[in-house]
Amino acid sequence: MPKVDDLKQKAALAALDLVEEGMRLGLGTGSTAARFVDALGRRVASGLHVLCVPTSEATRTQAERLGIPLTTLDETPELDLTVDGADEIDPELRMIKGGGGALLREKIVATASSRMVVIADEGKLVKTLGKFPLPVEVVRFGLLATIRLIKALAAQAGCEGEIKLRTAQGDAPFITDQGNLIVDCSFGAIPEPEVLAFALNRVPGVVEHGMFLGLADLAIVAGGGGVKSLRRPGA
Ligand code: 5RP
Repeated sequence: MPKVDDLKQKAALAALDLVEEGMRLGLGTGSTAARFVDALGRRVASGLHVLCVPTSEATRTQAERLGIPLTTLDETPELDLTVDGADEIDPELRMIKGGGGALLREKIVATASSRMVVIADEGKLVKTLGKFPLPVEVVRFGLLATIRLIKALAAQAGCEGEIKLRTAQGDAPFITDQGNLIVDCSFGAIPEPEVLAFALNRVPGVVEHGMFLGLADLAIVAGGGGVKSLRRPGA
């Protein structure tokens, strides 16, 4: 039985084959994306030229340490490729992301990219999204009112379950790189992600939710049987 860490590494290395000289890249966040960034750093050290936008301060620190040239979306608003991990991936390559708390920048960067490729171990594949609690980034102001409205509108979209404020060390709230909070919504199966997404986007205190719908066109997934490329149907 291969270890999850080895599978993450295999998926990350396979994604490196998609990187070409001169590309503008979005760099994801999380343990799988970090393996891709490490491997990219080795290619940069041996002469590859790329320009990258990190999706979190953690990834920025890692990329800087590796000498990967960085830019911002203000300087470089269009990217060629973003490579990122995911918490869950369904057969249509809809994803839940945000386990690492970086969903907002991740979604902004992926949306600014011509292509998003998701890298994962096969344990991330699901039939239906929702076993992994859905992260939703919210502003601090009016937190309880926001949670109540998320609950009410999600229920209309067929999703019910506990909504918990994410905490960091101790009981202090987890603060995102944008200075916001995250609530994790344990809805169980999300029957219609697009319907839930529409509902969440109606809540004024919601900054962004962790469902990535129609963004990834390719998933590189490593498992016991090797590395597979899964294309989004119709992409
Ligand atoms: C961070 C994310 C990560 O991509 C996701 O949590 C997967 O992380 P890992 O590769 O460590 O399993 O969305 O916000």
